Amino acid sequence: MKAYHLNGHAGAGRLMRTDLIKPEPAGGEVRIRVEAASLNYRDLLILDRAGDGGFDGRVPLSDGAGIVDAVGSDVVQWRPGDRVAASFFRDWISGPFKASYVPSALGGNTMDGMLAEYVVLPATALVSVPEHLSAVEAATLPCAAVTAWHGLITRGGMGKADTLLVQGTGGVALFGLQFAAALGARAIVISSSDDKLARARAMGASILINYRDTPDWDAAVMKATDGQGATHVLELGGPGTYDRSLRSVASGGKIVQIGVLTGFGPKPDLARLQWENADIIGVTVGSAEHFTAMNRFLTEHSIHPIVDRVYDFDEAPEAFAHLRSGSHFGKIVVTL
Ligand SMILES: NC(=O)c1ccc[n+]([C@@H]2O[C@H](COP(=O)([O-])OP(=O)(O)OC[C@H]3O[C@@H](n4cnc5c(N)ncnc54)[C@H](OP(=O)(O)O)[C@@H]3O)[C@@H](O)[C@H]2O)c1
Repeated sequence: MKAYHLNGHAGAGRLMRTDLIKPEPAGGEVRIRVEAASLNYRDLLILDRAGDGGFDGRVPLSDGAGIVDAVGSDVVQWRPGDRVAASFFRDWISGPFKASYVPSALGGNTMDGMLAEYVVLPATALVSVPEHLSAVEAATLPCAAVTAWHGLITRGGMGKADTLLVQGTGGVALFGLQFAAALGARAIVISSSDDKLARARAMGASILINYRDTPDWDAAVMKATDGQGATHVLELGGPGTYDRSLRSVASGGKIVQIGVLTGFGPKPDLARLQWENADIIGVTVGSAEHFTAMNRFLTEHSIHPIVDRVYDFDEAPEAFAHLRSGSHFGKIVVTL
């Protein structure tokens, strides 16, 4: 079968076409014919570490969707022909997070990912694809959408009376915006691009701030909300945005700490958190149970993920380059 793998010796590209033996499902496992896989910022970080021992030779991309092709013995919940997506952590099925789930992240340094024609996974690591979504749309959900859902809804309890602030117009941010719009909550978007802000407005955002033109966007958030701030902040930037996120959060609000777009290791001044009685919610994607609950919401509200561009399998390196350019709005997908 055709696949890509990371090759630490291949120089700048580091993503190489390969042929692998089509895997056979053992007891309790399912083989999926992958129809589409999507990219996340994490996949760029991993590509850049392709030369590190664990990543070398791994099939990349955590996110993918397709059709059940064969099932092993003891599999009762899936049949050939079922439309499924893989959950980000193979082993986080339900309940609270455990550190032991980390090595089961697909497309990481210990597990192969979805950029292959066929993938075998435990039956418990799959979720049904909502009927109203195409395979391309479903492939965008496992990382970005589940992260926004878990942080904002499951843990954050966001509702109609809330105000959400999202940073940028990438995958996680636009899912957050779509959830807020579906709930009737107010949404604030900051972006480097006026064109992208116009598109965010069309999706339901009512406060739009260009962070290039307005570097002190936290002050602009406060002004636009009459000094109240945002009840929910999707913190995607890390060190370059964290202090402004803290200055944008409302009294009793929540910072959903997710991202590393400007680097790792924020060292924010947390004093305001105490004075505003605000919380930080740390998030690492979510479980298959979160994914299933989110899919019900997507179905109920007829939400379609925002897909920026779809690439053919042969063009996967171009898809990575497009993500790195930062010019995308929403998700980038590769079809198989
Ligand atoms: N903790 C977790 O479990 C988890 C899960 C998923 C993602 N993440 C992290 O969340 C972040 C977003 O991931 P993603 O896949 O959604 O990324 P993405 O699709 O690549 O989105 C990147 C966008 O972020 C915006 N951006 C970049 N620098 C910014 C800055 N300094 N201030 C504000 N916006 C900025 C830009 O939007 P504009 O062009 O509109 O400015 C850029 O296009 C990444 O750091 C990723 O690693 C973490």
